[in-house]
Amino acid sequence: MHRRSFLQFVAGSPLLAASPTLGQLVRQDELPIIQSPEDALNVFEFEAAARSVMPPAHFGYMATGSDDDTTLRANRQGFSYYQLRPRRLVDVSNVDMTSELLGIPLEAPILIHPVGGQRMFHPDGELATARASRSRNTVQVLSTASSASIEEVTDARGAPVFFQLYARTDWDATLALVRRAEATGCQVLVWTVDLIGGRNLETLLRFRRLDTGDCESCHGNDPTLRQRNRNAPAPFTWEFLRRLKDATPMKVMIKGIDTYEDALLAVENGADGIVVSNHGGRAADTGRGTIEALPEVIEAVAGRIPVVVDGGIRRGTDIFKALALGARAVGIGRPYVWGLASFGQAGVETVVDILRSELRLTMQQSGTRSISEITANRVTRSSGIPLFR
Ligand code: GLV
Repeated sequence: MHRRSFLQFVAGSPLLAASPTLGQLVRQDELPIIQSPEDALNVFEFEAAARSVMPPAHFGYMATGSDDDTTLRANRQGFSYYQLRPRRLVDVSNVDMTSELLGIPLEAPILIHPVGGQRMFHPDGELATARASRSRNTVQVLSTASSASIEEVTDARGAPVFFQLYARTDWDATLALVRRAEATGCQVLVWTVDLIGGRNLETLLRFRRLDTGDCESCHGNDPTLRQRNRNAPAPFTWEFLRRLKDATPMKVMIKGIDTYEDALLAVENGADGIVVSNHGGRAADTGRGTIEALPEVIEAVAGRIPVVVDGGIRRGTDIFKALALGARAVGIGRPYVWGLASFGQAGVETVVDILRSELRLTMQQSGTRSISEITANRVTRSSGIPLFR
């Protein structure tokens, strides 16, 4: 069909209103908001659904990056710099997505990464996320800033969670958090180190201005709701990692490592694993996408400890690229929070299901039958800047 008559055909077709596959012609945000998780074609559709039910300030808290949100966008854009190198004529009738992280079996290499205060997104908060993690047998990494206790969440998950630690400047207070996690059977502590120097969540503050709700009735007179956030930096050094390691039998992963130099130091100071992360673009602005930082971390680690990456994961192809570049697993944040906010437990489950099925599809199309077959030669760094969202 000639291009013009094709466009005329499309313009007259009911498909135009319904099909995001015509993404160049119909922007996804112009389509109706999904009414149930089963309606979702991809994880992006949960974002509009979440926004439609959330107070603007809460949506803004979830959506914000820092300053101009450049790192936030770089996380997403970074995946477009890598392209797939598919192999053909491999029997992919059975694809196995299982793997392992620090002795914990993974049904698929997708972790539910820490996001604080989830009751702000849905009344069941972290408990709904835990129930979804249980039904989908997914590792849940619980934030120190959880709005439900680690005991309640472990109960709802039906198995120990990983515990994300914001260390306190007071060692005894840190130790109390560590002991509490240990008592729930937690086997992995994930110490976050990329948010030690304060930040400026400007998009949050702009959304806050749109919110006519009485924030003070829930948040009290918290000045960070209105002002640029200039927290005093906390005084942690590599010595603190050794101190943590000595204090607990749990495995300790260090989250927020983005350079070759720090990856070496993490290994030298006893980390059991690394998470390449920039806090979802919510810490320092104008950073690289995490997928671009991953290769140098993998090079430094040289297979000695597992590396997980988070930031901008929205598609099965993103997961595939991260694994090909050497990650053991990926972590997701905003996508499951969109699912949680819009449909509670079922929303989180569907987000996990979609990502798993997209990963399976990518593995089939790439001729990879197992996670271990997703090796570096399955992707290539592109020279141009392809179209991407
Ligand atoms: C907490 O981790 C946040 O980024 O707000």
